[in-house]
Formats: sequence, C-alpha cells, structure tokens
Amino acid sequence: MSAAVPNAVREIADGYAFTGPALELGAVLLDGTAYADARVRVPLGVLNRHGLVAGATGTGKTKTLQLIAEQLSAQGVPVFLADIKGDVSGVAAPGEPGGRTAARAAEVGQDWRPRGCPVEFYALGGLGSGIPVRATVTSFGPLLLAKVLDLNETQEASLGLVFHYADRAGLELYDLKDLTAVITFLTSPEGKEELRGIGGISAATAGVILRSLTLLENEGAGAFFGEPEFDTAELLRSADGAGVVSVLELPAVQDRPRLFSTFLMWLLADLYQELPEVGDLDRPKLVFFFDEAHLLFKGASKAFLEAITQTVRLIRSKGVGIFFVTQTPKDVPSDVLAQLGNRVQHALRAFTPDDAKALKATVSTFPKSPAYDLGEVLTSLGTGEAVVTVLSEKGAPTPVAATRLRAPQSLMGPIAPEALRAAVDGSALNGKYRDAIDRESAYEKLAARAARPEAEPVPVPPAEPERGREQEREQERERERDRGGERGRDKDGGGLLGALMSNPALKSFARSAGTQLGREISRSLFGTSRRRR
Ligand SMILES: Nc1ncnc2c1ncn2[C@@H]1O[C@H](COP(=O)(O)OP(=O)(O)OP(=O)(O)O)[C@@H](O)[C@H]1O
Ligand SMILES: [Mg+2]
Repeated sequence: MSAAVPNAVREIADGYAFTGPALELGAVLLDGTAYADARVRVPLGVLNRHGLVAGATGTGKTKTLQLIAEQLSAQGVPVFLADIKGDVSGVAAPGEPGGRTAARAAEVGQDWRPRGCPVEFYALGGLGSGIPVRATVTSFGPLLLAKVLDLNETQEASLGLVFHYADRAGLELYDLKDLTAVITFLTSPEGKEELRGIGGISAATAGVILRSLTLLENEGAGAFFGEPEFDTAELLRSADGAGVVSVLELPAVQDRPRLFSTFLMWLLADLYQELPEVGDLDRPKLVFFFDEAHLLFKGASKAFLEAITQTVRLIRSKGVGIFFVTQTPKDVPSDVLAQLGNRVQHALRAFTPDDAKALKATVSTFPKSPAYDLGEVLTSLGTGEAVVTVLSEKGAPTPVAATRLRAPQSLMGPIAPEALRAAVDGSALNGKYRDAIDRESAYEKLAARAARPEAEPVPVPPAEPERGREQEREQERERERDRGGERGRDKDGGGLLGALMSNPALKSFARSAGTQLGREISRSLFGTSRRRR
C-alpha cells in the first residue's frame, strides 16, 4: 500500500485481507477519497450467513446486487435474482465500456472487462416473458396456502381437511380450480355425507376460503398453480464452470405482493426439503437476492413472518444464502435482520424527523467505527457508494468501511425485450416448462361425477377410529425421530409446524381421523408436500 494511505484506511483494509476466495466489493472511502489499494471484500464462505443491501431510492442497491451476483456466477456459484423492476436482465449481457465506468474502475483499482453471465429467465406462471414457473396446489400444501390466503385457525384447519379428503379420495389438486371444485363439493349435501366421521366444513368457512381463492386468482396466481411443476434443482446449475443466474422477471408483481411472497415461500420450502444438510461450506451452493424485499413482508401475518424467520435461519445449513435488498433496514423484521451477517448500506436520506430516527436506528446496528461518524457518512454517500461490514472467514464482523463500489461488468439496465425473448426461446428448459398441462384431476373428476345421474360415492378408506390410538402414538414417535434426525431442524419448537400442531381444531381432526396427516406435515417445516420427481 502506498505511503499516502492514511492509517485509518490501512486498518480497515487489514480487516478485509482474507486468505480464501472472496468477492471484490470496492475500495475504502475516507473523506471523499477512494483508496484503490484498500480493498473491501466478502469471503465466499460466509455468504450463507445472509445479507442486506439497503439504501434510499437510486443510491445503487440494484447495481450492488448485480455486482455481487455476477462475481458469484464467475466463481461457479449459481444465483437467483428476483427482478421486480425489470432492471437486472442486463446481467446476461456484457457491460458497455464508457467514460464513467472507466473512471470508476480506475478509482477503485478494478480491472474492468465487459462480461455477461449465463442466465435463465423465469416468470411466475404465464405472467411475463420468462420460462413459466408453476407449482401444484398439492405441493404447495395447506399451511402455506392458508398463510397466503390469510386464513384464520379454523379456516386453516378446514383447508387441511380439504387436502386430506382430496388425498384419500384420489382427487388430485393441481390447480386452483381443482381446489375450488373440491371445496364446493364438500359443502354440497353429498359432500357433507362423505365427510361424516372425519369432520365438516361450515358453509361460512368454505365461503371465506372460496372468496380468498378468487382473490388470489384475480391477482394472477391462477397461472402459477398447475403443471408441469418447476423443479427447484434447476436453480443449482452451472454452465462451463460459471454458476447459472436465474432471473425471475416480476414486472407485474408490485401490485401482487401476495403472489410474490407465495412463490418465494414455496421455493424456499422446496429447496429446504430437497437439499441435504451440509453445514458451512467454503462456498455457497446458491445465493438468493430479493430486490424490493419490503414487498415480501408487507401485510404478512405473524405466522408467515415466523416461517420466513425460520427459513432464513435453517436454510443456511443447506448452503443457501439470502440477500434482502430494500430501502431501509426497517423494512425487514428484526428477527430476520439479526440473521443478516453481511451488510451493504447505501445512502439514507435525513429529511424528516422520521428519517432521522431511521438513520439513528440504522447506525446503531453497525459495529462501532473509530474512522467514521456513521450518521454523517450515511447521509453523504454518493451513488454506488455504501457503508459495508461483512463477516470475516472466522465469522467476526469486519471493520465498518465506507466503500466506493466496483462497476458491474455486465450491462447496467435491462437487455432488449427481443434479446430476452430469444434467450427464453433458446433455453432447453423452455420446452420442458412452456406449456401448461391440464391432466385429469379433481375438477374433471367431480364434474364427470356430477354429470352422472346416479353418482357413485367416491371410495374413501374408512378412518379406522379403533386403530387411532396406537397409530397416533406411532406418529408421535415418528415425529420425534424426524425432529431428532435432521440436525437443526425446527429447534425453536415451532414456526408453522408448531402453530399447526397447537391448533386445537386440526390437532383433534388429525387424531380422530387417525390419518397420515401428522406424518405428512412433520416431513416439512412448512407443510409443503414432498413431490415425486
Ligand atoms: N456500482 C456502480 N457502478 C457504477 N454506477 C453505478 C453503481 N451503482 C449505481 N450506479 C449508477 O446509479 C444508478 C442507480 O443505481 P440503482 O438502479 O442500482 O439504484 P437503486 O438503489 O437500485 O434504485 P431504486 O431504489 O430506484 O431501485 C445506476 O443506473 C448507475 O448509473
Ligand atoms: Mg433498484
């Protein structure tokens, strides 16, 4: 390091001199000068300890995300990006060399070369121009769906009963119309008869669920539920040594936060279920970026937030890192925030008393800094500059570093719509997922049955109340084994599973029915069901 570098800068840079592989964020900034030799970095091995990229609008959050994502890809780590504003598709194309990019590269000591990443573009169901991502209602499971539909405990229990009945009656729930058909059927006189002995659904509860389903459908979620179901293993691919960047195009989703959070939870639940426990690896298996993450938490119920908190906590040991990108740390619930070890805080505004309060709160979440007055630095950072602290290879917070960030080497801004369409058309995955399949399922079966003059009863195996007790004990033992068997799982004793199991209505239903339900639910933290591949 040259002699002109102040001691304070040297000390900060020493905190970022990691021995293993790391991503380059930028150069230490002090009193308006960026010191190209004083590098701010983040070790690859701590990226499963999650992160936060925050800052006021236009301060450079999305470019920071792009900068991190493209380096992960270059190092062979697959990445998932939720592109809500339609401004990250450029990660697929080489950036444009230009005066400002060259100047920034020189300031931060970056050997800038244009470079795009291998990218797959996805869209939710048929919404948008990416490869359609779908999930079946069954795989989604009653708990997650109940959370999405904002159902209360009684309604949640009823939905559990619907899933259970459909399962036993061989009525497949692939899309929303299957679910609607089964609920409608179960409130008919004939349906009520079928439920005798295992419970019932009141007309009022069914009405509420059906209305919520209609609402969800109106939000565009209809196209998301169905087949062919997306295999989350696609997100773990690499191409020629580079991690594939999966970009979920969500341009329409800002008006549909419920759909976005739905998908997110399913994806994480599914990954959580499918991935083996690996502990801390020297590099993550997959890193998620959720731009505009406030949408995820907006209007979320307590149980839903609990589920997110637990997901964030537990998915780490599966080698998956999550970065939340949002305007202020206040957008993120404190239990989640506490788990985000890597922080890139762009400029904050301090116009209003509320802003000032938020600024103070943000400052208090950073380690003490001998080099900076953080309140002042945070309000005076320029675009593409941020206050950074990450975890060192040993897991300790690095010194707070005001940083001028590197410029992304991929294109800043969107690629042309035609280029995006061409990428989708040229993808091998598009053939696999493009067209929706509408196999015979609950809707068709019930419609056919209604059309018959003398409807035959759907064969439902008896509930076997006599064997109930023994079976219940066996289930209890099995749940115990499941809990102990997978390290770290559900160690806080709850989340959705806990909430579900303490839900008296569903508990008594599960018991009286002597069903598989308890076992099915204990398989997963979220109540999503394991899928056949
Ligand atoms: N690291 C960087 N290198 C070069 N230019 C940058 C960098 N970061 C930001 N910029 C410039 O600042 C602009 C705004 O950045 P960006 O879109 O990332 O902001 P944002 O915080 O995501 O805004 P919003 O809140 O509106 O989404 C970019 O278009 C780019 O010109
Ligand atoms: Mg942005």
